[in-house]
Parts: sequence; C-alpha cells; structure tokens
Amino acid sequence: MTAKNITWHQGISYEERISLRGQKGYTLWFTGLSGSGKSTIACALEELLLKKKYSVYRLDGDNIRFGLNKDLGFSEDDRNENIRRISEVSKLFADSCAISITSFISPYLKERNNARLLHEEVGLPFIEIFVDAPLHIVEERDPKGLYKKARAGEIKEFTGISAPYEKPVNPEIHIKSDENTIEESVDIIYKYLLDKKLL
Ligand code: PPS
Repeated sequence: MTAKNITWHQGISYEERISLRGQKGYTLWFTGLSGSGKSTIACALEELLLKKKYSVYRLDGDNIRFGLNKDLGFSEDDRNENIRRISEVSKLFADSCAISITSFISPYLKERNNARLLHEEVGLPFIEIFVDAPLHIVEERDPKGLYKKARAGEIKEFTGISAPYEKPVNPEIHIKSDENTIEESVDIIYKYLLDKKLL
C-alpha cells in the first residue's frame, strides 16, 4: 500500500545527469541457478569496469541477505519481495548514472519482468544476462555444498531441486557458463555494452 499525502519531487532529470556526469546509468541483471557463475562473472566484470574508471556497483544475493533483506527467507513470497526491493535499489543506482550489477537467482519470470518495467518506464536501460548452466553441472560444482544438502532434504525450497527456476525467454545476453570461460563471458558482455553505446 502506498502512503497517503505524499508528493513526488522532481529533481535533476536522468538526461541532465548524464550530460553533467558523463556516464550512462543502467542495470545489468544477472539471473541463473545457484552455482551457475553469476557472482563470479559479475565480479570480474565489475573489476574491469572499475579499472576503466566507470562508476559501477554490484548487488549480490547472499550479501544483501546479511543486511537490507535479512528479514527474508526463500519462500516464493520472500523471494519476490527480495527481488522487488533489489529492483528498486538497482533503479536508484542506475538513475544516479552508475552501472548497477545485480546478481540474484531471481527465479520468477514475473518478478524479473517487473524489474525491467520499473526501469524502462522511466527510460533506464535494463539488460538481462542469463548465466546458463545445466542443473547436473551446477550440482557437480556445488561450491557451497548446498545441492548436496538440498538432495538430502536438509534445505527446503532449493532452486532447481525443490523450488522452480523459470528460464529467461528473451534475455539480452545469454552466457553458457559450462562452455565459456569467465574471461570470455566478461568479454561477451563488454562487447555488447560497447555495441549498444552504453560505455
Ligand atoms: S532469490 O531466489 O533471487 O531470492 O535468491 P538470492 O537472493 O539470489 O539468494 C541465493 C543465494 O542464497 C543461498 N541459498 C539458496 N539459494 C536457493 N534456494 C535456497 N533455498 C537457498 N538457501 C540459501 C545460495 O548461496 C544462493 O547463492 P548463489 O550465489 O546463487 O549460489
């Protein structure tokens, strides 16, 4: 529910900010199964952009759940609220002319679509990056031992095992993390951004 008696205050516009700041802001929305490589690729991309002096910041699923979203678990409602809040935060970063990189499983199409709408309705670019790896590969990798626990029934509602992951239908960028190295994946994204004149 929206509070009553509030009025939107229009400050500096996004266009004005771009011309003063000299950098476009937008959101790079990573999605994929746990262990697919979202955070690793996102982190390597962030480092590259920082070295090139861009203003960039990464919001990471695990990390955000230590603070802003510490009240949320992994039920469908909680995941939706997680993604709703992150969509809003990422939009603020993008509006500030930073490159906002989000790295969340974000398993539901509807919530990812809402994140996109939130950006696009105010003219902020939104680029969905699907970090795709088959379930048997991420299960083999199992870097945190979570799939093993999920198979043993020690973790409930685990994405890919006992909770759904709805694949993106038409992502701007599709990375196959079982075929591309981290460097190749970063390169694909970097070239896309150059091609779209976002850098
Ligand atoms: S979501 O679905 O977008 O709200 O999830 P997210 O905020 O990205 O958090 C995913 C990380 O939480 C850990 N974890 C789980 N993931 C999936 N399902 C369950 N039940 C779960 N419990 C804990 C896991 O470390 C995820 O991190 P990544 O980086 O994706 O591996």
